[in-house]
Amino acid sequence: MKKMISVLAIGAMLSTAAVGCSNEPNTASNGGSGGDLPTVGVAIYKFDDTFMTGVRNAISEAASGVATVDIVDSQNSQPTQNDKVDLFITKKVSALAINSVDRTAAGTLIDKAKAADTPIVFFNREPLPEDMQKWDKVYYVGAKAEESGTMSGELIVDYWKANPAADKNGDGVLQYVMLKGEPGHQDAELRTEYSVKAIEAAGIKVEKVAEDTAMWDRVKGQEKMSAFLAANGDKIEAVLANNDDMALGAIEALKAAGYFTGDKTMPVVGVDATAPALQALQDGTMLGTVLNDAVNQGKATLNIAAAVAKGETPNKETTGYDLVDGKYVWVPYVKITKDNMDDAK
Ligand code: GAL
Ligand code: CA
Repeated sequence: MKKMISVLAIGAMLSTAAVGCSNEPNTASNGGSGGDLPTVGVAIYKFDDTFMTGVRNAISEAASGVATVDIVDSQNSQPTQNDKVDLFITKKVSALAINSVDRTAAGTLIDKAKAADTPIVFFNREPLPEDMQKWDKVYYVGAKAEESGTMSGELIVDYWKANPAADKNGDGVLQYVMLKGEPGHQDAELRTEYSVKAIEAAGIKVEKVAEDTAMWDRVKGQEKMSAFLAANGDKIEAVLANNDDMALGAIEALKAAGYFTGDKTMPVVGVDATAPALQALQDGTMLGTVLNDAVNQGKATLNIAAAVAKGETPNKETTGYDLVDGKYVWVPYVKITKDNMDDAK
């Protein structure tokens, strides 16, 4: 009798738990059993990246009620990511969404996806054009890196024109330092190039005092900026960083060198418009940034993956986004200063 009661009790407990589960709308779309929702295997180049964390969260949110997402950390290792993709294919996911570690590895990933007939959506790290042409079920969601470079250069132009004292040595030339993202990444190469081009296009002569990569990383940004200051402190008139984390690191180094007190200042620009960067705009330490729209990049990635997973053709009707050449979604950047920072929130 005792035994039967406890069996009944456990049975009752289990059924309440089951009811509780099915009432929870998010469990089905965030890695739980998906019912008839398609499953999308998502690999991020590394979880420990501020902007990609925003994209990752946007993918999870967009998946609610649409797809079951299995999101994994590639830990900044392409071999690790390749293994994770193999596992997704073994598990028979309906589509792949890949933020590759090494953009030149896309070809290998496409070969794997094609062999299993699993459509693949790349995002944030753009595959080479020849790889994009390898198969018709290959897509890319990103933003035009040139555009963000141009906008960050324009932020410096506006400052230079409005503040004659910005030319600290009065030689009519803008002496700048560049904190570059990961070499080879389209955003690092093109932001570096186009930010300087925009300054020159405004008729301002430039001199590069120093340039180094800080790998998108805040701590490395601080270290590199400290080194620039130690070698060329008084010469520097502007800091261009390929992303906000490196710009924020540079600001830390500048603060340690006595900047942002009294009238000792420095124009610093980044890209992404992360929450800490918006705080720095508010505080007056960061001059400007460029919104890299994590929400729409994540949503477009998930919507395309979900559409192709169901065997649909991804287009504006099925995904909510325009697909250029049937393959590319370009999410626009927005220039952000203290004046319009609410647009980025
Ligand atoms: C860029 C972003 C960087 C970093 C990088 C990762 O678009 O601006 O902060 O997240 O992607 O690939
Ligand atoms: Ca000067």
